[in-house]
Amino acid sequence: MDVRSFKSAEEIAVAAADIFCDVLQKKPNAVLGLATGSSPIPGYTELARRAAAGLVDFSAARTFNLDEYCGLSLKNNRSYRYFMQHELFDKVGIRNENVHFLDGLAEDFDAECARYEAELAAFGGADLQLLGIGRNGHIGFNEPAKKMHAGCFRVDLTDDTIQANQRFFDCKGDVPRCALTMGIGTILTAKKILLIAAGEDKAAAVYGMLRGEISGQCPASFLRTHGNVLILLDESAARLL
Ligand code: F6R
Repeated sequence: MDVRSFKSAEEIAVAAADIFCDVLQKKPNAVLGLATGSSPIPGYTELARRAAAGLVDFSAARTFNLDEYCGLSLKNNRSYRYFMQHELFDKVGIRNENVHFLDGLAEDFDAECARYEAELAAFGGADLQLLGIGRNGHIGFNEPAKKMHAGCFRVDLTDDTIQANQRFFDCKGDVPRCALTMGIGTILTAKKILLIAAGEDKAAAVYGMLRGEISGQCPASFLRTHGNVLILLDESAARLL
């Protein structure tokens, strides 16, 4: 794994945006696996700046997001679909028909997960998969567990994740208890993986990912089985290495 440490979130954003631009330059209709949360925001802002300056073209890019809460519609401003529309898609000109998302309102979650998995596979998998990491080592919503999932699945969120994500909601009680997510196996089908972690509260998870045992105790540790992973850290997140 290629692990790089930076002084600031701004420097990480520039490095992450460089990777996206490189992928899109080589393949304008690249399949981009995307993440929500705080970690990608500076990179998305940098990509928006570059798109506005005509330095990168997203008009042919196809996107597949990692995960979505159960029970929230795309119009709900707490849904991941809404987040992506406002933090990236509108700003860089990604076409609606090129956006792919797990449907958190699906009647049959298992069927929805199978549909998404098959759709991503039909596109040849992600050319680039962007990830953040949870304080408990989760990637996507693959929470620590004895057994990891190969494909997309419905997951009950852990209390730690519910608490961490509470900041996007009015109160803890409003945070959905379950979500649909790509499985570890789905994530590992990406040709290239880019993970961003910043802040002191990610240091233990980053240590587990890079130095701990490869096991379900730290789902991100499975990234060590992939041959093309780039990890961008700030100094706080890299503190225990
Ligand atoms: C988001 C996702 C999550 C986050 C993780 C870190 O789509 O799948 O795994 O990447 O919870 O979140 P932040 O970046 O908010 O610390």
